[in-house]
Amino acid sequence: MPAKVVVVGSLNMDLVTRAERLPRGGETLAGKSFATVSGGKGANQAVAAARLGAEVAMVGCVGDDAYGVQLRDALLAEGIDCQAVSVVEGSSGVALIVVDDSSQNAIVIVAGGNGQLMPEKVAAVDAVLQQAEVIICQLEVPLATVGYSLQRGRELGKTVILNPAPASGPLPEQWYASIDYLIPNESEAGALSGVVVDSLESAEQAANRLLAAGAGKVIITLGAQGSLFADGSRFEHFPAPKVQALDTTAAGDTFVGGFAAALAAGKSEAEAIRFGQVAAALSVTRAGAQPSIPTQSDVQAFIPS
Ligand code: RIB
Repeated sequence: MPAKVVVVGSLNMDLVTRAERLPRGGETLAGKSFATVSGGKGANQAVAAARLGAEVAMVGCVGDDAYGVQLRDALLAEGIDCQAVSVVEGSSGVALIVVDDSSQNAIVIVAGGNGQLMPEKVAAVDAVLQQAEVIICQLEVPLATVGYSLQRGRELGKTVILNPAPASGPLPEQWYASIDYLIPNESEAGALSGVVVDSLESAEQAANRLLAAGAGKVIITLGAQGSLFADGSRFEHFPAPKVQALDTTAAGDTFVGGFAAALAAGKSEAEAIRFGQVAAALSVTRAGAQPSIPTQSDVQAFIPS
């Protein structure tokens, strides 16, 4: 079956330590546990979309190391089409993650193979993009590739989602016209708009700036405060389901993948946002990136409560 959701993005092996708190500069802390977990924002979003009901294809690069094999196998095990995941010389992407007792994390990323996903590689698998209904990009691969993929998605008439993570400076202005849904978290919205997002009102101001820049619609994810939708004619606040957070890694990725899967299944925007939010809430009750992402039936079981 052709993939309805195509993710152009990163695959990382996450090396995850739990510690009482995040270390300060120059400090050595004793960790409580260590795990090696498949992650990467692109791959996490692909897994989320697949577990949450979509046919998915991944476009990306892994290194020619053992992590590369594991990262690709993890996606294949979810039924994700990996024909457009190439193996390149060198190491795979790696993320060094510390999660503290209050479930916050700090992450250092080494791009590895993700840095070799050049626009030509995406152009070479244009047939994969052509079969999509929804194309999702993030910022863990070269910016030229993100720009190319957004523009190509627009030319092909697809629904184009950009999750501008991790936070960087302002986006290239010409990107905005290609984006149907821009989905930043608070800090990413702040980095893109110049507005410090620390309340619903400031989120509305930031969303207005991003709409004025040319984004079609904006959804700012606000963690435990839910999310804010803006389309230029109205704002809508979606409160988040209340859960006990254990590890917030990949919560945003789960929201984006769940939202995309629901849109591709023909759900309304509001339904897709609520579905993504429940999936993200469930993900924070579990540890790790891909292991924490719930299935469609987990989400359906949660919704009546
Ligand atoms: O969004 C979470 C992801 O960010 C982790 O899986 C890690 O790989 C980093 O890319």
